Amino acid sequence: MAGKLRVDLGERSYNIYCGKGLLEELGLLLEPLDIAKRCLVVTDETVAPLYLSRVIQSLEAGGFTPLVKQVPPGEEAKSLKVASEIYDMALEAGWERRCPVLALGGGTVGDLAGFVAATLLRGVPFIQLPTTLLAQVDSSVGGKVAVNHPRGKNLIGAFYQPCLVVADLSTLRTLPARELSSGLAEVIKYGMIYDAVFFTYLEEHVEKALEQKEEVLEKIVLRSCEIKAQIVAKDEREKDLRAILNFGHTVGHALEAVTKFQVYRHGEAVAIGMMMATRMALQRGLISSEILKRLEKLLRRASLPVEMPEVDIGSFLEALIRDKKVRDGKVRMVLPVKLGRVEIMEVDTREVIEALQRS
Ligand SMILES: NC(=O)c1ccc[n+]([C@@H]2O[C@H](COP(=O)([O-])OP(=O)(O)OC[C@H]3O[C@@H](n4cnc5c(N)ncnc54)[C@H](O)[C@@H]3O)[C@@H](O)[C@H]2O)c1
Ligand SMILES: [Zn+2]
Repeated sequence: MAGKLRVDLGERSYNIYCGKGLLEELGLLLEPLDIAKRCLVVTDETVAPLYLSRVIQSLEAGGFTPLVKQVPPGEEAKSLKVASEIYDMALEAGWERRCPVLALGGGTVGDLAGFVAATLLRGVPFIQLPTTLLAQVDSSVGGKVAVNHPRGKNLIGAFYQPCLVVADLSTLRTLPARELSSGLAEVIKYGMIYDAVFFTYLEEHVEKALEQKEEVLEKIVLRSCEIKAQIVAKDEREKDLRAILNFGHTVGHALEAVTKFQVYRHGEAVAIGMMMATRMALQRGLISSEILKRLEKLLRRASLPVEMPEVDIGSFLEALIRDKKVRDGKVRMVLPVKLGRVEIMEVDTREVIEALQRS
């Protein structure tokens, strides 16, 4: 049994399927789509030996003829150079407007393949087959696609929606524990910004999620996608509401930058960032200390870090400024006002330093 969610975006609406063993049924799930039988699967060299053969088999059983592009794992592959190699491959094969591109992998492969799908022939159908928890609950929904530029991450990109997302929960079995926890940070974020009941559910089920109990994972993935999809549907191009998804990310991004992306997985930096933002809300008297305690406890149980490491405050503030969220010494930050609700507020960089020193 698989769960299904419809993302409502007018004529760009699409379905998300979530459950165990769905990659085997891919051919069937693709049937209702108006796409050509020739398709291109983009994956990485870690994911390919694990899941590519079952994808190819189910595509072929559905009458598709797949081409495959394997890229090295990690951020390096999210580049214009690799995108260009994929254009070459597709165009050489005589690509047409209805020939889809499928992303089999984590957020890296999803962003790269999505960028190619958005730009190849001015846009071909795009299908996400996310295999990390982060990709299943975050990057595969929302329509942001991108490659990196030497000047920074995700600087070249577009908004481009997939026409189908298939989240096969069995792929998470091979995911390193640290990656699973990192994805859970974004899940906990959804509870904090949007849904107190979901937060409480996570408090009751976090160990079961780590043990990969199917019904818990399914609930977590579908509810996370639903929350993100609702926020995005109201604000597809990131004007205001969508910015609440950045809860924990202002400090998180700065922390990733000062540690040169070598120390923390993204979700780990976000966990520390959520703690900092919640501490600032407490400093301002917006929330009670109980919320900070509950957040800290839940993050710890999800094996996520909660403490700010020793960092040079000067470089940290510089990284905040570079993140373009600072104006006149004020940072725009997402702060909790109660469990399940956040607001965007301007805070003084001095408040950030104070929270840093208190953590
Ligand atoms: N588009 C968006 O809205 C959005 C949102 C969040 C993050 N992102 C992007 O997502 C990327 C990070 O994604 P990620 O955390 O999924 O990282 P990732 O794609 O780099 O995957 C992490 C590692 O796990 C491996 N892996 C993937 N699936 C596996 C599996 N099932 N079993 C074993 N190993 C597996 C990968 O090969 C990789 O080495 C970043 O580039 C980030 O910018 C995009
Ligand atoms: Zn994030």
